[in-house]
Amino acid sequence: MIQKVRGTRDFFGVDERLFSRIESSAVRIFRRYGIQHVRTPIFEDTSLFTRSIGEATDIVAKEMYTFPDRKGRPLTLRPEGTASVVRFLIEEKIQITDTLKVFYMGPMFRYERPQAGRYRQFHQFGIEYFGTPAASADAETIAVGHALLKDLGLASGTTLLVNSLGCPACRPGYLEKLKSFLTSVSGQLCEECRGRIDRNPLRCLDCKREECVTVYVASPSISDTLCSACRAHDASLKDLLAAAGIGFVAKDRLVRGLDYYVRTVFEFVTTALGAQDAVIAGGRYDGLVRVLGGPDIPAVGFAGGIERLIELMLKQQASAAPDSSGRVSVFFVCSEDAAARRRAFQLCEDLRAAGISSSLPLSDGKSFKSQFRSADKSGACAVVILGEEEAAAGSVSVKRMDTGGQQTVPQSDLVAALNTIGIAGDAA
Ligand code: HAM
Repeated sequence: MIQKVRGTRDFFGVDERLFSRIESSAVRIFRRYGIQHVRTPIFEDTSLFTRSIGEATDIVAKEMYTFPDRKGRPLTLRPEGTASVVRFLIEEKIQITDTLKVFYMGPMFRYERPQAGRYRQFHQFGIEYFGTPAASADAETIAVGHALLKDLGLASGTTLLVNSLGCPACRPGYLEKLKSFLTSVSGQLCEECRGRIDRNPLRCLDCKREECVTVYVASPSISDTLCSACRAHDASLKDLLAAAGIGFVAKDRLVRGLDYYVRTVFEFVTTALGAQDAVIAGGRYDGLVRVLGGPDIPAVGFAGGIERLIELMLKQQASAAPDSSGRVSVFFVCSEDAAARRRAFQLCEDLRAAGISSSLPLSDGKSFKSQFRSADKSGACAVVILGEEEAAAGSVSVKRMDTGGQQTVPQSDLVAALNTIGIAGDAA
């Protein structure tokens, strides 16, 4: 038997319903904020990701699905959406008057060690705002994430963590301080963190190993080193969040796995999912458009992980809605007679064309009794009965499942008869 590839998964039943619910909630909330949809390719030139995410990050160093195409060009399955959106913006010379707001959704690929909440193919939705350096843009993107979690019934199960990583003016000073601290305690750190001291010291602060976590409690605080502009930006963001009633925790040691961030970084985290605790995460990345060859355009955004949100919704039973996928309004029961079956097939198609969901038995040799049993199980509101007699007389019997009431009507009046008992087309 051929099995799915490690780190991938199928979605069916309740998982698929929650997946669709998250997607449709996201689109609805994003539109409320005037954010436009952009669809970019799933694979891109490898250098797009190495240049934007950072050579020293885990994503670029270890996790990319990179392969040469038939002409030997290096391609990569996108590990995230931000770089592709920036590439699109530059390539298509999109004009930005005031703020450009875009969103995307779809599969991303990272060769990580699979575990609960961590997959090799996973699904993100994300938003990106371009064109404004103001803290109000950071605040609005966070508000979008908050509104979406609220819509999914998850606002109380998540905590918003906020930090500032400084800017090119003040971060180097902090990195020096951090490096000398890390060097002084290197004997107590895990091997991975020791390797990061020179390559990517900020990432050390994200280590989840007990021995490192206890040491990092005493690491220098970035908020002490922020320049006055970064400090003002951070204060303004927090003030706007407070004004909007969005609770947050300022977490001085919050860092991110991608190198492009400046100033604001944030994560909505939960304690319900173990180590993979971030469900929505993002921040500001003012230099990225220029690094990728475009103009100097400030930007901020986030991405959310659909698998983790599904897991959280299942845990919180935020949507224990009964399974209505596959349910139809009308169920046909008909005799074995070829003419009756042919007519039932036609009428069923007519109902669907009128927007009324319906189904009929597709296999032969089913008794009336077993067809009625299927109709009962299907949860349909009405059964349309077409026996030999009805077929010959050009009529059908319509039975309501709630009251058991039954009437016989001409076949040509079937839609109208269904309408009178409250079964209307989905376009009605
Ligand atoms: P990220 O933190 O790498 O950021 O990913 C965002 C979210 O995607 C995570 O919080 C998590 O929910 C989900 N995620 C990431 N990796 C996996 C995985 N292996 N399996 C399941 N879910 C996963 C970014 O991707 C940035 N592009 C976010 C951003 C947008 N920053 C600015 N704009």
